[in-house]
Amino acid sequence: MDWEKFEHRFFKEEGREKGADDRKIEKEAFDEFTANTVWKLATKGQLDYLSGVVSTGKEANVFKGWDLKGEVRAYKIYRMETSDFQAMWKYIEGDRRFEHASPKRRQIVLTWCRKEFKNLSIAYNAGCHVPQPHFCLNNILVMDFIGSEYSAPLLKGAELEDPEGTYWMAAKDMKSLYAAGLVHGDLSEFNLLWWKGRPWMIDMGQAVPLTHPRALEFLKRDCDNVAKFFSKLGVETIGDKLFGYITS
Ligand SMILES: Nc1ncnc2c1ncn2[C@@H]1O[C@H](COP(=O)(O)OP(=O)(O)OP(=O)(O)O)[C@@H](O)[C@H]1O
Ligand SMILES: [Mg+2]
Repeated sequence: MDWEKFEHRFFKEEGREKGADDRKIEKEAFDEFTANTVWKLATKGQLDYLSGVVSTGKEANVFKGWDLKGEVRAYKIYRMETSDFQAMWKYIEGDRRFEHASPKRRQIVLTWCRKEFKNLSIAYNAGCHVPQPHFCLNNILVMDFIGSEYSAPLLKGAELEDPEGTYWMAAKDMKSLYAAGLVHGDLSEFNLLWWKGRPWMIDMGQAVPLTHPRALEFLKRDCDNVAKFFSKLGVETIGDKLFGYITS
């Protein structure tokens, strides 16, 4: 791939000097297949250009960028090579929506990306506060960018004026998601962003429908995580109570 051409086309700098580290991350994020997917997204109007990387995780890199209408977007780009395929497969296997999915390594990543897109769509349509998903192509998911210049902080580091009120906002979204037939499966203060005075759920690749054999076990774990976080802030709650509220 012609990296210079790719960089010139897709990375317009926002009045900021790029360090060697940024360049390294960017280059690593775009293997040949991913770069081709970026070009395709551009022809579909879903991506005009990217600014720097927002997050580099184990499974995905998240970039801030803009589509051709000038709307700001988050681009979650799953790694084709270094993902934990086996962990992903566990959440695909029991999910009837992906009965015919292939267990081959690269296919798992593509299925995972589609799965996150579908999960976000269900959550969004159920009225949950999640980034609205816009498009998914191969290993790239396009969704609303939560934040303004920078991405919104995690609930983990946010200063909450009203922990109890915030807890109920999160609990209601969990209940709406459950009513729509889905369990997040990795919910905690690390996958909730704090934005516009409320929590926003993100990172839904692993979310499974209630028909998944382990759905209630995952829900129980989500409830324990969320209840533990808020009880440390003085909210009177425990996982079982939250679980009861959600499933009643
Ligand atoms: N829609 C979004 N808007 C703004 N920032 C986002 C968005 N989605 C993700 N991020 C940022 O990227 C980070 C990683 O995203 P996410 O949790 O979805 O991926 P991940 O695969 O779990 O990554 P990690 O392995 O780091 O947990 C988030 O913590 C958040 O800071
Ligand atoms: Mg995460």
